[in-house]
Amino acid sequence: MPGIIVVGSQWGDEGKGKVIDVFSAQSDFVVRYQGGANAGHTLVVNGVKTVLHLVPSGILHPKTTCVIAAGVVLDLEEVVNEIRSLREAGLIANPEQLKISDQCTVLLSYHRAIDQAREKALGKEKIGTTGRGIGPAYEDRAARKAILFGDLFDEAKLRAKLEEALQEKNFLLKEYYKTEPIDAEQLFGRVRELTKELAPYRAKDASILVHKALKDHKKVLFEGAQGTMLDLLHGTYPYVTSSSTIAGSAFIGTGVGPHAAQKIVGITKAYTTRVGSGPFPTELHGDLGERIRKEGGEFGATTGRARRTGWLDLVALKYAIRVNGITNIALMKLDILSGHDKIEACTAYRLDGVEIKELPTNTADLSRVEPVYKSLTGWKEDISQVRAINDLPQAARDYIQFIGNELATPIDVVSVGPGREQTLWIKPLFN
Ligand code: IMP
Repeated sequence: MPGIIVVGSQWGDEGKGKVIDVFSAQSDFVVRYQGGANAGHTLVVNGVKTVLHLVPSGILHPKTTCVIAAGVVLDLEEVVNEIRSLREAGLIANPEQLKISDQCTVLLSYHRAIDQAREKALGKEKIGTTGRGIGPAYEDRAARKAILFGDLFDEAKLRAKLEEALQEKNFLLKEYYKTEPIDAEQLFGRVRELTKELAPYRAKDASILVHKALKDHKKVLFEGAQGTMLDLLHGTYPYVTSSSTIAGSAFIGTGVGPHAAQKIVGITKAYTTRVGSGPFPTELHGDLGERIRKEGGEFGATTGRARRTGWLDLVALKYAIRVNGITNIALMKLDILSGHDKIEACTAYRLDGVEIKELPTNTADLSRVEPVYKSLTGWKEDISQVRAINDLPQAARDYIQFIGNELATPIDVVSVGPGREQTLWIKPLFN
């Protein structure tokens, strides 16, 4: 099957948006299968920056069909905003470029309100969510109370579901969180307005579209959001998002069988970042961390929050390779590491004085580990103008080779800047 899954192998923000945009030039379909507007995928084309939260990052290629599949929580306000600005920029000329599954969970203002009220109530113990309502929306889905995208086109059903939802949500907002309730009539009116704008993009059963594309040997990219360590089951629970972010989620979120993928590309930043609370063994505090944050522009595309920064963590990456089945790596933002005398890479942890090579799945243990580093020689040159692997400084090539060897996984692509042209190919994508 000609499908390729692109997943974040760290804590998100690895550069998936750029990779999907670049890979989309060679793809017929791009499918978003989980998460919601908590994602922020940044694309830079001809120096112009576009940040997408819900619309798949393939949208900048007019011949690519973008699908928002069942596993996504669809923030109606956000998706309409995005479509409007893409249309104004002349980037969605034809509604066939974007297709939304009837099975998507609809995310509305009360989900955002509950997410934010809950985080506030948690105080210092907060998860550090994006406040986009992701957890409460997935909770509704699991509780079998969600409004689905397809429900929006049946007004009587929509009204009944919305009223039922608000009875419960308003009780929670008013009585428990002591915050403002949501007006049912107003929200109903707003949802109807938004639905009208979204109607041309309705796919009904999007899994048919993707299934047919795969059967016809079309090139299909599955676009993951967030990263492995934020996975609901396999991440650093409870400091995770509310969806499954690992590669297996592509099949579930889209509704295609596990044979749909021939390759699983792990998008890996040349160092590590994390937003929000939770363990981060290689985190750098102080000047070095600040320098990487500044040079890497490590501020959230969705929330603007400063990201925590640190060295590459090969223990966590090996874990990511295992739980995703990553077959190939795209190494991102290598240019940000220019100018360091030494670059450290974590090859093991020390827990209670014992060296370990496997990531502890117990979050409390992971919070206590100390990283064991291998020191590598850095390079001084600015590499952002380099266009071929062989033109990189030897020390940069050694760093790439070291990572590939440690992870026993081929590195197919190296990125040395946000632009499409700043992409060095070691191996073609589809072959
Ligand atoms: P939520 O997904 O908004 O519920 O946030 C849960 C955790 O996931 C928080 O630590 C967020 O900072 C993190 N998170 C969610 N989406 C992203 C993302 O796209 N990139 C990086 N971190 C994310």
